[in-house]
Amino acid sequence: MGKLFGLIGHPVGHSMSPSMHNDAFRLLNQEHHYHAFDVSEKDLEAAVTGIRALEISGFNVTIPHKVEVIKYLDEVDAEAKLIGAVNTVVNVSGRLIGYNTDGEGYLQSLLKTTGDQLHNMKVLVIGAGGAARAVYTVLSRYSVSELHIANRTKEKARHLATECNQRRIEGTVWSLEEAEEQLDLFDLIINTTSVGMSPRVAELPIQLDKLKADAVVSDLIYNPLKTKLLQEAEAKGATIINGVGMFVEQGALAFEKWTGTAPDRKHMEKVVLQQLGGL
Ligand code: ATR
Repeated sequence: MGKLFGLIGHPVGHSMSPSMHNDAFRLLNQEHHYHAFDVSEKDLEAAVTGIRALEISGFNVTIPHKVEVIKYLDEVDAEAKLIGAVNTVVNVSGRLIGYNTDGEGYLQSLLKTTGDQLHNMKVLVIGAGGAARAVYTVLSRYSVSELHIANRTKEKARHLATECNQRRIEGTVWSLEEAEEQLDLFDLIINTTSVGMSPRVAELPIQLDKLKADAVVSDLIYNPLKTKLLQEAEAKGATIINGVGMFVEQGALAFEKWTGTAPDRKHMEKVVLQQLGGL
């Protein structure tokens, strides 16, 4: 019999996850179904209780519940604890176990461009929110050459660097202005903030005047597919990476945890690009 999976968040109306997962189930002849549930903050606990009662087999968690959901789970994996957020839950015979596939999803998508060279790269993470914590934590685990962070609120970045740098990778905490001045230090620059996201597409998280010519610039944003940051970086000769790969990979990793089967990632990407108007 088919199982039920889902997403809890608010809002979820424009989520691409249902079509991405339902298509993947169909392709594998699995009768499972994935549904997006719009859950307000006051209803989170009741929603998780309902998930247990209805024996929903697994679910994704998105904004604004990724941190709060932790207190309603039975177990949280070590990396998700370090990140401080859960985006994937597996229901194992009534025990709800939380994971974070955002970080590993980002790493896997990044490696497709950088390969093992990532170990030699000096990296700047821009932002200090939940997405930054996921990215910074996995890059520390992977052991990049240097791991720097810049944020509008420097104090928040300092906290993040103290808590999430497990391997004690060398790096500095910068303000955005300081990082702009030193931009030629970095081989890889990653925007984890929402600056440049639709509809505010004219905004830049950081000025690229001092960008190294052979740098890689990565933006977690996928709407638009090419943010102003990526447009400017490309014009300067940099290699650019948008957020589609991370979105697909975090979903594929969740799918594997739920079903034990690897989905067709290329097909997932096609479904996502179709929804974003990129195909
Ligand atoms: P998420 O969980 O998606 O990472 P978040 O926790 O709200 O979202 O974090 C948003 C990040 O984007 C923060 O680093 C925030 O900077 P502050 O810590 O100073 O708030 C950053 N951010 C949001 N809007 C910004 C803006 N207009 N300029 C610069 N940084 C911005």
